[in-house]
Amino acid sequence: MTTDINVNRPEPILFGKQLELFNRTSDVKLAINALEAGKPILITAYYSNGLLLLKELQMHLKRKLPNKSYQEQREYRSEYRKLSNLILIEIVDHKLNVKKSPSIGWLEKLYPETSDFLLSFPQVQGLNSSWQWYQKGISIPVLRNKVHPYYGTYFPTRFDHLKLFDNWLKRYKGPKKSAIDVGIGSGILSFQMIKYGFQKVFGTDTNPNAIVGLREFMADTKLSRKIELDFGHLFGSWTKQTELIVFNPPWLPEAHNPDRNDEAIYYSENLFPDFFAGAKKRLLPEGKLVILFSNLAQITNVTKDHPIEKELGEGGRFQLEKCLKKTVKAASEKTKRDQYWRSSEEVELWVLTNK
Ligand SMILES: C[S@@+](CC[C@H](N)C(=O)[O-])C[C@H]1O[C@@H](n2cnc3c(N)ncnc32)[C@H](O)[C@@H]1O
Repeated sequence: MTTDINVNRPEPILFGKQLELFNRTSDVKLAINALEAGKPILITAYYSNGLLLLKELQMHLKRKLPNKSYQEQREYRSEYRKLSNLILIEIVDHKLNVKKSPSIGWLEKLYPETSDFLLSFPQVQGLNSSWQWYQKGISIPVLRNKVHPYYGTYFPTRFDHLKLFDNWLKRYKGPKKSAIDVGIGSGILSFQMIKYGFQKVFGTDTNPNAIVGLREFMADTKLSRKIELDFGHLFGSWTKQTELIVFNPPWLPEAHNPDRNDEAIYYSENLFPDFFAGAKKRLLPEGKLVILFSNLAQITNVTKDHPIEKELGEGGRFQLEKCLKKTVKAASEKTKRDQYWRSSEEVELWVLTNK
């Protein structure tokens, strides 16, 4: 088993020079001027001083920048991101060095080699909320146990596609010796397959945190003998043929936008062609290829292309056994109003077989 995977984490900031300090008695205007001049500022005394400066910065930028059109909003966000990341906080002995601050276990887990360093306040906020999710765990309607998503790992916030997969698995009558879960994330699809009696699942992910997180979560429990992990692209090092391949891929095409580099959400041009080519080699003659997808990209007019329909039309490798669809319930009244298209959102479960 390899243990030498480097996880993604906010890079520790090492700053030799004297920093400007900020606390409750500091002049907010001067602090914001400093940020605008590109000078970092260190939060001292209380954690809430960081929250205060962030809020002041937001108000300042709202006054200063127009924030109406899509383009203006993007510029506002990018300016906010740039300046807020100059607000720093000190970590000493793996703890935030200010009073009344949350205790964040990631500071120890993700930084075993350095106990004292700086991070930006937004990074610390991200680590903090991730730590809350990780510790509390998330209940998933199709699983008995909660999942505990590791820092920087994708986890679902809506579950309709998982229900579709669960219903399909419930009726699946084929052999259950082995399966491959491409892009295993926090492991949910694999746990579902184990629940329905699959003996072995091979999971991959290009996100090191997903692999490290699952390895830690399964430790030496029974699960760790049933689910094998590989940190790699698509099928990683798995070359043997299996009776089931599942993939819950990113659902949106990568726009020409450098911010959109999240591999759990956005797919590159080659992802699906490479996936189908690899799946063809690894699917047993009578095997099933199951892909979870959604019409999200189409109803938001991001693209007219549907990568699975495209494969079926042009690939010559697979044929359609069935496609199950389920309307997604809007998360809340608020989302319904803001995102009119949500009302027509559907998740899809595609079952393909060899041609
Ligand atoms: C939408 S998430 C699904 C995660 C999990 N299977 C689930 O259903 O909750 C997509 C996952 O695929 C991974 N991924 C993206 N591109 C990949 C690739 N080329 N090879 C392997 N995994 C990939 C992402 O890191 C992410 O964990």
